[in-house]
Amino acid sequence: MRKNYVKIVLDLLLAITFVLLLMNPRVFNGLPFHEIAGTVIGIAILVHIGLNYRWVINTTKKIFSSELPKKTRIGFFLNVLLLLSMATVIVSGILISRVVFPNLALEGNHFVRGIHNLSANTTLALVGLHLGLHWQWIMGVSKKVFKTKDGTWRKGMIASSVLTFALLAGGMYWISQNVKPSEGDFKPRFAEQNAFTFAGQGAPTPPDGEFRDGKFRKERGSSNPLLVLLNYFAIWAVIIVPTYKILARKPLPKG
Ligand code: HEM
Ligand code: HEM
Repeated sequence: MRKNYVKIVLDLLLAITFVLLLMNPRVFNGLPFHEIAGTVIGIAILVHIGLNYRWVINTTKKIFSSELPKKTRIGFFLNVLLLLSMATVIVSGILISRVVFPNLALEGNHFVRGIHNLSANTTLALVGLHLGLHWQWIMGVSKKVFKTKDGTWRKGMIASSVLTFALLAGGMYWISQNVKPSEGDFKPRFAEQNAFTFAGQGAPTPPDGEFRDGKFRKERGSSNPLLVLLNYFAIWAVIIVPTYKILARKPLPKG
């Protein structure tokens, strides 16, 4: 059971970090946060797979066997797709990196940036399906965390979880209000995007201060991490509910 607690905490951290990365590189202090967290999530996914290595080995061995339940086979192929799309996001991110791996010379490449954006959104959808398939496990472990065997609520656990979330949310809100995105990371992008529209007239650059007052941030949505979290968790909910209802709850026939 202790291993399940470790897993659920790691899974929650994975989900929150992924969503903050997905929104855009403006959350927190711009690209440095985005690139460092993006690299760290790559390592965290390896730990996540390592914690499930027994499932990976056993299922791979039996993948063509008729004994394997259909649900497990669907989960396996979904995991393969998830691994590919997550690897594509991280590798393409590293290729266009400006802060952590600035020597790769592809930083302004539109094609690779397009791949990075597309694979990030594909991964969002696949993680939604992945969570839908595991929803029963998530609910089961959560129940054990918050309720005793005789069905009474663990008040201490509830209070400390609420406090942890409040501190996390307050901290994120404070950082988003007080630590502004590094303008230098985004000015070139603005100029690049407008170079087509204003061809021949020179690309305009927003006046200093307009980045600060949020005018140019609206172009790519809110940079408030709390709204970002709510927005993407709502998208996941829309994917998780039907997946859970169709695939995960009812045991499917074998083969
Ligand atoms: C935001 C990212 C992700 C989240 C929130 C997430 C969440 C979960 C959850 C809740 C479980 C069940 C409990 C557990 O064993 O931890 C699980 C299992 C698993 N996950 Fe993930 N996961 C993510 C990304 C990935 C990726 C990219 C892979 C790559 C293949 C992956 C592979 C697996 C495997 C192999 C299992 C166990 C086997 C299974 O039943 O599917 N996960 N994941
Ligand atoms: C799960 C991991 C990641 C996700 C979900 C993610 C997601 C995103 C998204 C949605 C964008 C905006 C794309 C656009 O509008 O053009 C973006 C941009 C970017 N990402 Fe990532 N990313 C991840 C990992 C990384 C990593 C590991 C790096 C580098 C080490 C990286 C570097 C960048 C850069 C340089 C940009 C372009 C910033 C700009 O010019 O505005 N990303 N990422």
